[in-house]
Amino acid sequence: MIVGRKSEGGKGWQAVVESEGEERERRIAAMVAGMSLHDKVREMAGTTNLLKQAVMLIRYNRFPFLAGGNRRLGIPPLRFTDGPRGVALGRSTCFPVSMARGATFDRDLEERIGEAMGIEARAQGSDFFGGVCVNLPRHPGWGRAQETFGEDPCLLGEMGASMVRGLQRHVMACVKHYACNSIEESRFFVDVRIDERTLREVYLPHFKRCVDEGAAGVMSAYNKVSGWYCAQNRHLLRDILKGDWGFAGLVMSDFLWGTRSTVYAALGGLDIEMPLRRYFGRRLERAVRKGTVPEKVVDEAVTRILRTKARFAKRGGVYPRDMIACKEHVDLAFESACRCMVLLKNEAGTLPLRRDELKRLVVIGKLADRGNIGDKGSSRVRPPYVVTPLQGIRARAGSVEVDHVDGEDPSLAADAVSDADAAVVVVGFTARDEGESIPYMKAGGDREDLGLRDSDIALIKAVAAATDRCIVVLVAGSAVLTADWRDEVPAILVAWYAGMEGGNGLAAVLFGDENPCGKLPVVFPESNGQLPFFDKKASSVEYGYYHGYRLFDKEGEEPAFPFGYGLHYTEYQYSNLRVSAREMGADGSITVKADISNRGDMAGCEIVQLYVGYPASGIDRPLKELKGFDCVRVEPGETRTVSFELAARDLAYYDVSAGAWRVEAAEYDIFIGSSSRLSDLRLEGTFRVR
Ligand code: BGC
Repeated sequence: MIVGRKSEGGKGWQAVVESEGEERERRIAAMVAGMSLHDKVREMAGTTNLLKQAVMLIRYNRFPFLAGGNRRLGIPPLRFTDGPRGVALGRSTCFPVSMARGATFDRDLEERIGEAMGIEARAQGSDFFGGVCVNLPRHPGWGRAQETFGEDPCLLGEMGASMVRGLQRHVMACVKHYACNSIEESRFFVDVRIDERTLREVYLPHFKRCVDEGAAGVMSAYNKVSGWYCAQNRHLLRDILKGDWGFAGLVMSDFLWGTRSTVYAALGGLDIEMPLRRYFGRRLERAVRKGTVPEKVVDEAVTRILRTKARFAKRGGVYPRDMIACKEHVDLAFESACRCMVLLKNEAGTLPLRRDELKRLVVIGKLADRGNIGDKGSSRVRPPYVVTPLQGIRARAGSVEVDHVDGEDPSLAADAVSDADAAVVVVGFTARDEGESIPYMKAGGDREDLGLRDSDIALIKAVAAATDRCIVVLVAGSAVLTADWRDEVPAILVAWYAGMEGGNGLAAVLFGDENPCGKLPVVFPESNGQLPFFDKKASSVEYGYYHGYRLFDKEGEEPAFPFGYGLHYTEYQYSNLRVSAREMGADGSITVKADISNRGDMAGCEIVQLYVGYPASGIDRPLKELKGFDCVRVEPGETRTVSFELAARDLAYYDVSAGAWRVEAAEYDIFIGSSSRLSDLRLEGTFRVR
């Protein structure tokens, strides 16, 4: 994939690329040994010059950000660009945001999306893609929650790994932001204090899953973890990532304020400072000459960089520009837009809207008529077009008359629906309300309060009073409170920021052309007070063991809508739980099977969830944890079997005093369910670990 320029030294690099395994490692070592300190240090930083910085201020992600590269030696630079909702360069396909894709719980779909993004990145001259964000939102109001796949480590890890698989057929994947980056407005300075068990069990497993999948790079986060900035956090980078997990790829810093020192960062395990040389470059050379950074530290970093470049260098192929936003990718954007919609409430068959029963439909709200694809920070994608909810509904309405009212005045909106058959009220957020926080821009940031605006609530209430068919569509990147208005409306659909085809996906679900099958990847609480304390300006914060559904279970709190929850236009029946063995050893595994039948008259996908409980544990553990999920398509009248492999090591906890993972010899509960809510855990069994 990375092609070096022809030069005399290029032969050495070509030989590295052509070789494999130990031979390649030997050649890299020889190459590093022959490089001057200056050349080595140049590999370790971004090369964004002043001109490019100026262009980036006007149009961020105009070009890929380059790092390293040496013409004389034939070593190509890395060409980094952002995601994760599509490729941030040019006019790329805009997919639903990651949180929306998390709601599909569909590994295969995510892998296909990863492939499409990898192709589009290559077609635009990038080979290193920062589109795998797997930070765990401890509080769903984190401004960038939309960039990640949900609150659960298992879901995050599986979806992140699927993206890595898809991407890495074409580009190198960069997994970010390592670690504990989940408050936006204080991200540059906040110190996340966290105990070792919580770190290992809750905030890191999904990063490890992506590393195990072979991710090329990891981006360190801005914040501190237990007193140390992440880019110079020896424990995170050296002990855990490069040590315990055996990560052989490269670590790059987040941009600008991501690197805070020369010596600590180099010793701590940072390999590349991005996007330009500030602390690395000359300062690093000086530190090596002075002996404050041993040269072997530089050699190790350069070895990782060259190894990673070489590993991906042969991934060739032609990537014409007409693959960018091509029909196949736009179709995939539509498929994922349909699949991510989560139906939270649907009384009296309000949905789907039946074209033959409706004469007039009123679509209400400013957001109904707006191409709203989410954050405008580094993850911004500029697609060739965006289908708004209104456009999507009009395009699928057939002979139904569709009117639009902006809802500025709730009483006018109510008047407009009084003689209509149904109303669709589109409310929620935009990039102004949530997203990446950039100091000089007044946009984005965190949502400490998950409630809708008062004006949105007034609009919903006014419309709900005027029609008994008021359907609320929520546009958001994460959880929203519904308690103030939920009982007044018969139907609620979460549409997220569903990408360039979002309006079409929404309309397909509203009209019943597609069966809604998304499930919540984060808990939707009943009130802000049920969530962990959240101060978006905090300079220091403690991350405890419990968050999300685990916290609700622990506290005995009832959420508005639980993790894993979503309705369909059909009914699925669960039966016939089969556990392959009553017992397994600490290094064994069992197979868990269940049958899912579609008892309705519409085909659809059911997201089947496997939770494990620890009733006999000798330590404090969650009531239950997601340990597997599958997405099965079931035709009406059909029964499908889902099968999960559950390994004893998946049940391990981190024993801090021993510094090791332990599997308790005990009795475990197993639940197969349609959501994490107790009453949705349809099948139950037990097994033992010896
Ligand atoms: C963001 C990263 C992004 C980087 C490069 C940073 O501000 O935190 O997610 O990859 O910029 O654009």
